[in-house]
Amino acid sequence: MCGIIGATGTAAAPSFLIEGLHRLEYRGYDSAGLALVEAQGIWRARAAEGTHSVEDLEVLARTAPQGARCGIGHTRWATHGRPSVENAHPHLDCTGRLALVHNGIIENHAELAIGLLDRGHVLASETDTECLAHLVEEAVAEGTRLSRAVVRALSMVRGSFAIAVVHADQPGTIVAARRATPLVVGLTDDVSMLASDIPALLGTTRRLVALEDDQVAVLTPGSLEVATFDGDEIDPTALTVEWDLEAAQKGGYDDFMSKEMHEQPHAVAETLLDRRSPDGTLRLDDLRIDDDQLRSIDRVCIVACGSSYHAAMVAKYAIEHWARLPTEVDIASEFRYRDPVLDQRTLTVGVSQSGETLDTLQALREARRWGSRVLAVSNVVDSSMAREADGVLYTRAGPEIGVASTKCHLAQIVVLELLALTLAQLRGTRTPAQIDAVVRGLHELPDHVAEALAREKEVRDVADTLVGARDFFFLGRGVGFPVALEGALKLKELSYLRAEGYPAGELKHGPIALIEPGTVVVGVATRSPLYEKMLANVAEVASRGATVVLVADDGDDQAAGVADHVLWVPATEAILSPVVGVVPLQILAYQLARRLGNDVDRPRNLAKTVTVE
Ligand code: AGP
Repeated sequence: MCGIIGATGTAAAPSFLIEGLHRLEYRGYDSAGLALVEAQGIWRARAAEGTHSVEDLEVLARTAPQGARCGIGHTRWATHGRPSVENAHPHLDCTGRLALVHNGIIENHAELAIGLLDRGHVLASETDTECLAHLVEEAVAEGTRLSRAVVRALSMVRGSFAIAVVHADQPGTIVAARRATPLVVGLTDDVSMLASDIPALLGTTRRLVALEDDQVAVLTPGSLEVATFDGDEIDPTALTVEWDLEAAQKGGYDDFMSKEMHEQPHAVAETLLDRRSPDGTLRLDDLRIDDDQLRSIDRVCIVACGSSYHAAMVAKYAIEHWARLPTEVDIASEFRYRDPVLDQRTLTVGVSQSGETLDTLQALREARRWGSRVLAVSNVVDSSMAREADGVLYTRAGPEIGVASTKCHLAQIVVLELLALTLAQLRGTRTPAQIDAVVRGLHELPDHVAEALAREKEVRDVADTLVGARDFFFLGRGVGFPVALEGALKLKELSYLRAEGYPAGELKHGPIALIEPGTVVVGVATRSPLYEKMLANVAEVASRGATVVLVADDGDDQAAGVADHVLWVPATEAILSPVVGVVPLQILAYQLARRLGNDVDRPRNLAKTVTVE
């Protein structure tokens, strides 16, 4: 997730762009840049130093040409290409007279780049975005006006985009377009502006319009023209915004956690994008471990902490089920000290949203000392783990601000299941048709997650009945067990209530002694090969007076018959079900924490990234 901004008609263009980028930093800050249109051409500045790229850009902008009244800017959350000045937006075309910024993912960028290189273009970055600048360049060179040149370039693109383009031959004009990625336009009498998100414009105007998918906008000072990609003029829909700045950065949600829960469908969809070659085989970005090395793997060890550990547990089931590879999952802080037995045929996978958790980082270093190949699964491009690993698999959830992990957890499960399928593809333990069927199921998950989120009120009603409860068990079997653990962790870290995640089949070996009237047992009872056994375990706790809350598939009357409350979810294939089943548990924990007056974005005693052992 990146932030783009643009403005035309203001003598304060540089400062407006910088201020807007500061307000968009929560969308990413790996690098920042701006381009201004002036008489001589395009003036560009870019910075990519750690988390203060926008501040560094602000210093560079002091040397911007005075009087520049039109420009675009970008703050980056890297997905393709490491954070660097070369990869920072805006990107230029070969003439240096066109500049472009982009938020989204160009799925077919590799094919487009090959064609551009064949036609003599010089690509100066590793990004998917730069291809767009050169495609627009080609159309402009044929005499097409800028707005139609942008549409022609985008017609060759698969993926998601929100872009803004300027050209030195059309000073004062910005062309913008979007698909599946947000873009807002603002107006005053003299200035036209655009941004990825409302916060960047709120300080200047509340005259806002939201572009729709496959619409192109032409901004000139104080005026706006919008058309469909087919050229039909559109009267854009005005946005009424009552938010203040902070509310706007939360997208109108009460807090970042709520916003990020609702970003989960998009996070899963983005993480699934661009994972297949034209021939349909799975292709994982930055893996940098070649197929023969992967085929030589005879064991997988996964190390992680917290929610990432729970995602790793789901991966164990997936890798063993599909790829038939023995897979161990370790708490990272334990792994290092258990004298693990690893060798060069072991693949050690570190799962970490931040890519900086020291327990996991040290575990990976230990694995490398044993000669194991190391793969990092991270949400932060070029994080410490990503840099040190032999290969990297990125989730594309965008910045996760809330301390309690939600969208990254779902994205981790999805990308780890893609890894499991890739291993199965390489080892031939699943046919292409079988793999394709599962991939189709993965691509249905964003809609299922959105449907689970749409039932927020039903979950809120259940939370209302549980206010006052002080003793929670979360039970699950098979892939439902990591879901139970994640539900318990969410409740603990947000509401500070005691909650224990436990394998449902194990409860009778002691902990069932704790069950009494008033104990709340949350069971993950979505359909799976262990469904009947799960319901039997539920009956054991219900008969001892527990209040039973079940996560169950839509229409499952059998589950409803043994529960006091049901958190309904759309049915999915068992091994994909954690991605959907965990959603009502996130909402339940969030709602109980809100009722207790807790700060859900910054729970007590916690930090978003734990860089101590
Ligand atoms: C999850 O909600 C917690 N914030 C915590 O358990 C977290 O998952 C853990 O610290 C691991 O963080 P990482 O994914 O950045 O490595």
